[in-house]
Amino acid sequence: MKMVWIMRKRWKLWGIFLIIGIGLVVWAVNRQTTRERVVYDDEQKGLQNQIIIYFSHVVAENTPKGLAAQKFAELVEQKTNGRVKVEVFANGSLYSDGEELDALMRGDVQMIAPSFSKVTELIPEWQVLDLPFLFHDDDDIRRVFTGKVGDELLGMLEEKGIKGLALWSNGFKQMMGTTRPLIEPDDFRGLRFRIMPSEVIDKQFRLLGGEPVAVSFDHIYRALERHEFDGQENTISNIYSKGFYKFQPYITISNHGYLGYAVMMNQSFWDRLPKDIQQKITEAMAEATQWNLRQSKAQNERELQQLKQQKSVHLYLLSEMERKRWEQKLAPLYEEFARQFGSKLLNEIKEFHE
Ligand code: SIN
Repeated sequence: MKMVWIMRKRWKLWGIFLIIGIGLVVWAVNRQTTRERVVYDDEQKGLQNQIIIYFSHVVAENTPKGLAAQKFAELVEQKTNGRVKVEVFANGSLYSDGEELDALMRGDVQMIAPSFSKVTELIPEWQVLDLPFLFHDDDDIRRVFTGKVGDELLGMLEEKGIKGLALWSNGFKQMMGTTRPLIEPDDFRGLRFRIMPSEVIDKQFRLLGGEPVAVSFDHIYRALERHEFDGQENTISNIYSKGFYKFQPYITISNHGYLGYAVMMNQSFWDRLPKDIQQKITEAMAEATQWNLRQSKAQNERELQQLKQQKSVHLYLLSEMERKRWEQKLAPLYEEFARQFGSKLLNEIKEFHE
């Protein structure tokens, strides 16, 4: 009798454990689903409904991209009365440029702004933006980035499941040499160049007789310290903010290419945001983009003046005739692009010169 009573008691206890166990599983699943909907900061009192956006990028804070990201964060916070907070992580402190696109697609980070070249791995047509001498001046950039072509390019991102928000600017790229200036196409022969991952950029250096090697941005400084490269192309603001000029002091102002960024958000994160928040983010992005276009130009000009003050830096302004010779040498890149992808996008961009 006593045995039966003990058995019943045990079954009761197991029953209670089972119910508690099921309850815990249901609670954990529910909590996870809620978190996946949007990232909330539920640790701080009174901020249970705050939406947090992690925005990761690889350059220094005091660069056109770093400053535009901060500007965007301020505008979003203002426009949503603090309901949305954008946390900006600079200098590749969260992800390097080789990792950030995958991190965005996995949803580990909500926003990134990789350079155009890095998008070409996903959307080869974006190589058009890496063609040398495509843009003549900052007016071209403004019209292309904020017009119909810009929308078309951002639309291609959406086909890949990424919300394209805007195109941001850094500036025109300049050519840098470690031991001598790069003025004529022949000057590139036999030299080793660090490049961003992009087929067009790779071919550009091969046409010039150089040996291009793709290296992520966060590895450049160390590679330069180890004398691994004879040259590279970059913008004045990246050259200045990262101190690349200390290793590659021969800078040719060639304005031969353009470094811009695709500002993007994880699509399913975007889709789950309330409509009014999407609206405020769109407004903040439009304002931050206009600000970035003005600011990037001014910053590159200002920092060029700073570089002129450095005794160790040798600046050379490419003449019209020299520029023409570069253009001739690199013309096959256009033919090859048109053969591979057709001329539609190329012609739409060129229309802006007229
Ligand atoms: C960037 O500006 O985001 C990086 C550019 C580079 O890789 O040189």
